[in-house]
Amino acid sequence: MKELTIAKQAAREAGKLLLSYFGNLNDIQFKSGRRDPVSEADKASEALIARIIKSSFPTHGFLAEEKTAWEGDGGKWIVDPLDGTVNYSHGFPCFCVSIAYERDGDVLVGVVHDPVRREMFYALKGKGAFLNGKSLNVSKTPKLANSLIVTGFPYDLDRRPDKILRLFNKMTTASQGMRRLGSAALDLCYIAAGRFDGYWEFGLKPWDTAAGTLIVAEAGGKVTSLSGGPFHFMDSSEILVSNSKIHNEMQKTLGI
Ligand code: IPD
Ligand code: CA
Ligand code: CA
Repeated sequence: MKELTIAKQAAREAGKLLLSYFGNLNDIQFKSGRRDPVSEADKASEALIARIIKSSFPTHGFLAEEKTAWEGDGGKWIVDPLDGTVNYSHGFPCFCVSIAYERDGDVLVGVVHDPVRREMFYALKGKGAFLNGKSLNVSKTPKLANSLIVTGFPYDLDRRPDKILRLFNKMTTASQGMRRLGSAALDLCYIAAGRFDGYWEFGLKPWDTAAGTLIVAEAGGKVTSLSGGPFHFMDSSEILVSNSKIHNEMQKTLGI
């Protein structure tokens, strides 16, 4: 599928660009507050991806985090040009590019590229998920007590710290261990790869989840709202993802 080829090419080129700025940022601004930075690298990566998509698919729509957007026909591209900006701005090498292509509300192509580890995660709807060409499967861990769980904190954490940290505490004691990477798209791909067993988060946006949720679903994972209802990337306000075996236990532990 041409969309997959172009998405991978755009992610690879954007990844190279991110590496060239990494450790050399001059312009960091803050969007909603001190936890929500945006740099010249986010903007340059977005401009590069937009250029590639526009020249390959001039009629498609486009929606990206740093506000590049246009309407079109025949589907829409949902792009996070740099997922993990807080990590990136501190020189912590855990970040990625996330590119999804959706048509009629269904994500058909998802690509998440980590240029530091040279890991290209991708999926085509109905055709499986892959990491650098190798097929991906979620873990088989049957119990939460033996599971490695990941989460993230929303940028408006200060508005509701008690709820977020109470759930973090509960899951820390119920699981084998908790991690907090700082890149939602990589969190999702790491479940697809069986590196983590479960994940939940509040307050995400379509560009954080569109590609990663297809990748984890195609790897055999379960993606729902926190109450177990259907998840759609356009409403990413809450998400629960797992290897499917520990889904009910996670839901009970989170108690929502
Ligand atoms: C953020 C990361 C982080 C998550 C935040 C996201 P950004 O995206 O995915 O892991 O906890 O909610 O906004 O701002 O680095 O693209
Ligand atoms: Ca993001
Ligand atoms: Ca971003």
